[in-house]
Amino acid sequence: MLGCGTVGSAVVRMLAEHGDGIAMRAAVRLAVTRVAVRDADRGRDVPLPRDVFTTDPSSIVADPDIDVVLELIGGTEPAKELILASFASGKPVVTANKEVLSAGGKELFDAADAAQRDLRFEAAVAGGIPLIAPLKESLAGDRVRRMLGIVNGTTNYVLTQMSEHGWTFEDALAEAQRFGYAEADPTADIDGFDAAAKCAILASIAFNTRVVADDVYREGIARITPQDIADAARLGYVVKLLAIAELEDGEVSARVHPAMIPAAHPLAAVRDANNAVFVEGAKVGQLMFYGPGAGGEPTATSVIGDLVQVARNLAFGGRAMGCTCVL
Ligand SMILES: NC(=O)c1ccc[n+]([C@@H]2O[C@H](COP(=O)([O-])OP(=O)(O)OC[C@H]3O[C@@H](n4cnc5c(N)ncnc54)[C@H](OP(=O)(O)O)[C@@H]3O)[C@@H](O)[C@H]2O)c1
Repeated sequence: MLGCGTVGSAVVRMLAEHGDGIAMRAAVRLAVTRVAVRDADRGRDVPLPRDVFTTDPSSIVADPDIDVVLELIGGTEPAKELILASFASGKPVVTANKEVLSAGGKELFDAADAAQRDLRFEAAVAGGIPLIAPLKESLAGDRVRRMLGIVNGTTNYVLTQMSEHGWTFEDALAEAQRFGYAEADPTADIDGFDAAAKCAILASIAFNTRVVADDVYREGIARITPQDIADAARLGYVVKLLAIAELEDGEVSARVHPAMIPAAHPLAAVRDANNAVFVEGAKVGQLMFYGPGAGGEPTATSVIGDLVQVARNLAFGGRAMGCTCVL
């Protein structure tokens, strides 16, 4: 395991707590044998002996006794180099890292293909909500036409407080920071960078094409006023920051911006820090995936789901679907 912070430590605890059920589903018993962190001496709330921790992640990806790498460091580097090195040494990878995938997914998928190993990333978009596997696998027989997503919990929390209490953006953001829903530097959330990275991943999967974060039109919520929200409400609408990916006349459009949605639309009822993605398929019709888009335990659930699939593939000699960006 690379990283043992909010998500990584929850993964370790859940693997210990649900070990029997996970072993039954994975067909093998999974053990965390080495963990890379920045500070190996720090006390951590995980049931692991001190000597599994190291500050040298490259020693983990090169270790022939390790079968699977979980990349839970985040950011582009050293995460990208470590993922590439994992494939080079024949190990499949599970990651929760939207930045690395939305900036340079092709290189990672090409390396996974060359190594004939899995790269799974359910946790990278909308944390605890199963979304990538349903889009790639369950809906393989359909064609997605449009996706509308509330994929950033911080901005949804801020907009919910503004809508329900009439607060200004600044007051709602201060409240979000007080409750730990917003970082001290909230730029990535408020200005839509986080949502754009997720939108790029969703658009790539939905339309079998390659969209990177820089391709996504992006507008944040900092200029939304209580008056905007009140005006929208008077007209029967709710203001949400939406990630929108759609196919128009054969062209893929991917954008993140505040939007007015009818109060009766299911997305309008998504409050606080929750996430939801509304999918319109040609055959299946309308689907909505809703739940916690972040948090250690919800996100760890997605990581472990991927890990079970990867372990089964190793045990039975298979491989998950690779990159679907063929257009
Ligand atoms: N938190 C969420 O709710 C959430 C939701 C969805 C996806 N994700 C994604 O999950 C990933 C992990 O997020 P997180 O919230 O768990 O982050 P975090 O709490 O900041 O943990 C990061 C971990 O990586 C370690 N680390 C950082 N740089 C390192 C390096 N160069 N070498 C070795 N270890 C290093 C840190 O070590 P120390 O502990 O020693 O500092 C820490 O254990 C990210 O990609 C994030 O985007 C998170």
